[in-house]
Amino acid sequence: MGASSDVVKAGVIGYGGIGKFHLQGWLALKSAGVEVTAVCDADPAKWAVAESVYASAGLPVPSKDGCLYLDMKDFIARSGVDVVSICLPNFLHEPAAVACFDRGMNVLLEKPAANTLDAAKAIAAAYARSGKVGAAQLNNNYTPTYELAEDLMNSGVFGELQTVDGWWTRRNGIPFYGDWFGIKAKSGGGPGIDLMPHLLGWLLGIMKWPKPGWVSARTFDKAEPGCPGYGPYGGGKKNPDGVFDVERRIQVYSQLDNGVTMNINAAWAMHTDLERMGFRLIGSKATLVVERVWPINDGDDAKAIDTATLYTTTMEGGRPWTSDRKFNPDTDPSTQDPFMGRTKTQSEVLDCIRTGRTPKTSITNLLAIQEIIDAAYRSAEAAGKPVTL
Ligand SMILES: NC(=O)c1ccc[n+]([C@@H]2O[C@H](COP(=O)([O-])OP(=O)(O)OC[C@H]3O[C@@H](n4cnc5c(N)ncnc54)[C@H](O)[C@@H]3O)[C@@H](O)[C@H]2O)c1
Repeated sequence: MGASSDVVKAGVIGYGGIGKFHLQGWLALKSAGVEVTAVCDADPAKWAVAESVYASAGLPVPSKDGCLYLDMKDFIARSGVDVVSICLPNFLHEPAAVACFDRGMNVLLEKPAANTLDAAKAIAAAYARSGKVGAAQLNNNYTPTYELAEDLMNSGVFGELQTVDGWWTRRNGIPFYGDWFGIKAKSGGGPGIDLMPHLLGWLLGIMKWPKPGWVSARTFDKAEPGCPGYGPYGGGKKNPDGVFDVERRIQVYSQLDNGVTMNINAAWAMHTDLERMGFRLIGSKATLVVERVWPINDGDDAKAIDTATLYTTTMEGGRPWTSDRKFNPDTDPSTQDPFMGRTKTQSEVLDCIRTGRTPKTSITNLLAIQEIIDAAYRSAEAAGKPVTL
């Protein structure tokens, strides 16, 4: 793949909750030379999702013949796509990603890397031997507030960076009670493996990926009668008596090898107000607070409100002056990504395929995140005893 005019054939494996946004994103890159030539989902009913995505993009729906694959192995062997988005349940990431890399495809892999650390390592090994682009769908590392924080870090605004906090808290945000998300053998865990990759990706990315020295964590699964859980993420729609053996909330404390302390709180269900994802960078010279709030609790990034405030204090006239500078990217519609952050990552994947450069967030970063998740769960099993990495 060389010149920017070359057509890049794209495909999506699994177009359920999130895969449909990948399909939208690849279709939106038509004028940049991307052609969606194949999709794969084991559920034939999902073809209706593909049809509606094509219709909303104003494009003719392709014939199922030659475009739709119900069997992943068949898709990998015969579709001939150059790049594939893998949007499958976590336990299927390893078989899909390893086979795609081994087949010579470029891969955009949804977070987390996989349901287990061993599976994540197998994916990273396949990525390394393939020489292909292996991008991570860590969409929050591509937002305007991430870029702002990165610029502030690079310009030394914080002085000595001391502590970083990340939180993603929902009141009623268990995704599909009784479905694969809540079954540990399939997902690998609850919010610790679902929400925490975004928090770790953001915080570690801003700090240029320091390594953790040790990790201490606790998980919480106690559900009081009538307490939050079911909700707009579809909780009530699946079998409420189905298996749910993952945590509802995780709390992590880690000491990083750059001298910074990191705190994480990720909850699918806790007593709180609206769904919020936030970050705080505390330094000797300044503190930055970044937050994304979903005002109607629907999880749609396009409707979320992003803010960032920088707190500094300077001496003027012999007195300390506190200055709070606010940044609101929502006032600039050009910074918004209509497809839940996929357009930016997919444009980057395309550029990486054409130029040979490594994406900002790659499979290597997903493995680093998985190592922390794994350590956090091991620590939680030992009642919070620190795990050294
Ligand atoms: N980056 C983000 O913001 C974000 C958001 C949501 C989900 N995700 C990730 O995306 C992945 C998928 O999550 P989701 O919410 O879309 O799940 P989902 O259950 O809604 O969709 C999964 C799809 O995979 C299909 N599928 C299952 N087994 C298959 C097989 N063997 N072959 C082919 N297709 C198969 C299902 O039919 C379904 O359509 C997960 O890894 C999740 O962590 C990421």
